[in-house]
Amino acid sequence: MGLLPIIEIPDPILRTQSEPVERVDRELGRLISDMFDTMYAAPGIGLAAVQVAVPRRLLVIDLQEPEEEGGEAVKRPHVFINPEILHASDARKTYNEGCLSIPEQYAEVERPDVVRIRWTDADGAVREGEFDGLMSVCLQHEIDHLNGVLFIDHLSRLKRDMVVRKVMKARREREKAAIL
Ligand code: NI
Repeated sequence: MGLLPIIEIPDPILRTQSEPVERVDRELGRLISDMFDTMYAAPGIGLAAVQVAVPRRLLVIDLQEPEEEGGEAVKRPHVFINPEILHASDARKTYNEGCLSIPEQYAEVERPDVVRIRWTDADGAVREGEFDGLMSVCLQHEIDHLNGVLFIDHLSRLKRDMVVRKVMKARREREKAAIL
């Protein structure tokens, strides 16, 4: 199991444009496996490589939703390499989002409801699919990361500044505190 440190705001790495993945090889496989370990441990439902300081166009998602209402969460790991949004619906939907790089802050973000994506999977095959619901939200949030965009960029300036201030304040308190 390989846990990688998760980069948090205001680290400028989060603002970089990630580079395409050139080769799906064993080295990439190891990174993918470490990213899943890191995401499950956090815990989160999506993680972009840039969040572990690797600015490559790669993301992992597992919504960990139960099969039926009230049931146990089921692991369904998804890997998206070089994902591209081919089409986004005019219809929009609002979802309460958070981000492992912006700890413990949540806000309502409006995005297209349905997206059509093309990506390369972990076996190197090019695939296409249409996604709605939480998967659509998660894909759009993670693809934003690959372009240096954070969910707070979709908020008003006032709300964004408030979230950033809260994260900084919490971090200062954490650093000052004697955790016994
Ligand atoms: Ni995020």
